[in-house]
Amino acid sequence: MRQFLTGNDQDFAGLEQRATGACVAYRDQELPPGSSPSRARVGFEVNPSDESVLLLVDRGIRYTGSSPQVGDWLGRGERRFRSFSDLKIWLRGELAACYGVMAASHSSQELHPSQLDVSPADLTDLDSIRDDLAAINRPVVMDEGELFRELQTHVRGQDAALQTLARRVCRHAARVRPARPASLFALGPTGCGKAKTAEVLPAVLRRLCPNEASYGYLRLDMSEYQERHRISQLLGAPQGYVGYGDGAQLIDTLAANPKTIVLFDEIEKAHSAVFQTLLNAMDAGRLSTPTRTVQGRTVDCRHAIFMFTSNLDSAEILCDLEQRNAFKQPTVVDEVCRRQLRMTGLSPELLGRINAFLIYRALSTDSRAEIVTQAIARGASEYGLNVAQIEPQVVLAILEQAKSNAYGARPDEYLVDDLLGSAFAQAVSSDDSFAVRVTGGPPFGCEAMQ
Ligand SMILES: Nc1ncnc2c1ncn2[C@@H]1O[C@H](COP(=O)(O)OP(=O)(O)OP(=O)(O)O)[C@@H](O)[C@H]1O
Ligand SMILES: [Mg+2]
Repeated sequence: MRQFLTGNDQDFAGLEQRATGACVAYRDQELPPGSSPSRARVGFEVNPSDESVLLLVDRGIRYTGSSPQVGDWLGRGERRFRSFSDLKIWLRGELAACYGVMAASHSSQELHPSQLDVSPADLTDLDSIRDDLAAINRPVVMDEGELFRELQTHVRGQDAALQTLARRVCRHAARVRPARPASLFALGPTGCGKAKTAEVLPAVLRRLCPNEASYGYLRLDMSEYQERHRISQLLGAPQGYVGYGDGAQLIDTLAANPKTIVLFDEIEKAHSAVFQTLLNAMDAGRLSTPTRTVQGRTVDCRHAIFMFTSNLDSAEILCDLEQRNAFKQPTVVDEVCRRQLRMTGLSPELLGRINAFLIYRALSTDSRAEIVTQAIARGASEYGLNVAQIEPQVVLAILEQAKSNAYGARPDEYLVDDLLGSAFAQAVSSDDSFAVRVTGGPPFGCEAMQ
């Protein structure tokens, strides 16, 4: 941002020209002190019809500085000026004051070239600044509502959980220097979308922020880490020990991409040594490893998102929240989850480090119908078919056959292939099978669409 505080009139004239009828954006701009995150995109847009100017900035910036006008700009994500000269006056006055830039130096016409004789490299250690800047992961600013809606297209009927997740992920991603990873705990009956949410999250984030570093995904089945020695598969084995040099799942993944969503499935099964390591990571934001990685012997996990799931019975929790009608009240959800999970034997140290609990509920018949519809389209695509229409009886017949929803969506999904697999296979053998209508049932059919 600083170049705009001291920019000369000629540069501003060029900017005004480029921004007329278009948005000229500058990435990674240093915001005024008191802004969090401290860097963001800033854009200029001149309206050609009335010459008013919009000064835009990424949304979601918090500001604790002293200028109400700057606070208003950052809070709204935009500020309108009647003309470009008004904007210049504001940048060189109100905004410059926030950075402590003196009014006298606002116009570079007053800055004589001889004053620039000293090279910046003489004044400071530029290499170390470059290294430091490179080490900082840039924040990703996302719209919470947009993330929620995007997640909803994949995970059906779990709005309360998705809302909490979207809020937490947006906050975490917007931090330039988070102190620790985000830690979320997903709870609910079997087959209701807990793991599915973690699986789709990286792709959803990539779609929302195509220009940012993408999130990776690692699923760790904690039932495989019930013995102490298994810890070396996560963190690496020391030199001279079996497994040295074989690599370590968690360490290697985080070293390669600090922005990784790690799903710790069935966390209650993990050995206490694995537990202890995770507690440290959740506190200190780094994991130690006996083997060397590109980052040395510790790996930064502050930018990671840890998601835990548990197969401990969540019926009591759901019942308690149902009675209080409190699924959308985060403080009640936190209190109930911590209390009930503590009683099932989960360690208070882990529970105390969880930022938020995501509550998944038993799937309603409507949600199951939507999931079956998605599963039919997905199943058909495995045969190279593109489903254009599904007769409602097909979905009803599958739900009818699956009967109980005690096992979540899995049995429904298995039935899709059991019942429709032959129809899909037959359709593949016909010539014109690109767009199909699924009919029936039973018997079920798959017809080419005209
Ligand atoms: N709410 C949902 N929306 C879309 N698909 C779902 C949903 N719930 C379950 N599914 C489907 O069912 C399958 C199983 O769901 P998932 O793996 O998320 O279960 P889970 O909640 O982790 O259960 P478990 O505790 O038994 O592991 C998924 O692959 C997904 O296709
Ligand atoms: Mg699961």
